[in-house]
Amino acid sequence: MAQEYMWYQGIPFPSKVYTPEFIKEVHEQFVLKDEDIITVTYPKSGTNWVIEILCLIHSKGNPEWIRSVPIWDRSPWIETKDGFQTIKERKEGPPLITSHLPIQIFPKSFFNSKAKVIYVIRNPKDVLVSGYYYSAGATYLKNPQSLQQYYECFIEGNVQFGSWFAHVQGWMSMRERENMLVLSYEELKKDTRSTVEKICQFLGKKLNPEELELVLENSSFQAMKENTMSNFSLLRGDYFSPGFLITRKGITGDWKNHFTVAQAEAFEKIFQEKMAGLPAELFLWD
Ligand code: A3P
Repeated sequence: MAQEYMWYQGIPFPSKVYTPEFIKEVHEQFVLKDEDIITVTYPKSGTNWVIEILCLIHSKGNPEWIRSVPIWDRSPWIETKDGFQTIKERKEGPPLITSHLPIQIFPKSFFNSKAKVIYVIRNPKDVLVSGYYYSAGATYLKNPQSLQQYYECFIEGNVQFGSWFAHVQGWMSMRERENMLVLSYEELKKDTRSTVEKICQFLGKKLNPEELELVLENSSFQAMKENTMSNFSLLRGDYFSPGFLITRKGITGDWKNHFTVAQAEAFEKIFQEKMAGLPAELFLWD
């Protein structure tokens, strides 16, 4: 199984899934439509949770769709060949799209469109821990030998989709645009109801109280964990080891159970250096 990276404009991508030609095509030629709604994240920031919420907002809380169609077909990843094809051939359903692409290689058409982007950020220390377990369970990624080794790769941006710091810096430069909503995993976790309402407002959608209740119930961590269309169990064998689920812990602050004091201090220093220039209120997680 190939676990090597291919590089496109300095960003590592697992070569089992991505080719430079294809990433280039998406970057240069994919035309986004004004009605598209794109969930953009650095991997492990809560992507699938937000997709599940968007699907349920569309169905007004009815779980039929999320329980019958895999999550990657409901909001396909634009940078994967299958996802790209699904988007191009889609004739019905909401125009949901997902992407982990850094802004500099995101479809150029976005910059002249009204397509809406929901960018989700998460405490990078939790992203790191989540990514460590994900890489250990994913057969298409380099399996980390230890948390320390993964920590070093993460800091250097030597993991799929490159540096967290650069990804967030890049996308945050767009945060004032009307067609962009920035959410954090932490606010979603702390007050899911208000955050779902915020998403509805951004999308110009209305839910009545019962519908909102159903959205919350059917997108809960437990509900997603039990939903085979959302928990990635269908990808075991081809992409993941037996027993793998994307719904691992679903909590904030798990880094405290994993980082040494030295790792936490060093991370903080790097964070301050690399994220200087962005307002601290964007990063309210510790
Ligand atoms: P952990 O590994 O910390 O548990 P992504 O979808 O971007 O790959 O992110 C995966 C992370 O989101 C995992 O974090 C996963 O548990 C968490 N997650 C998925 N669904 C969730 C939900 N409904 N509620 C809270 N966290 C969720």
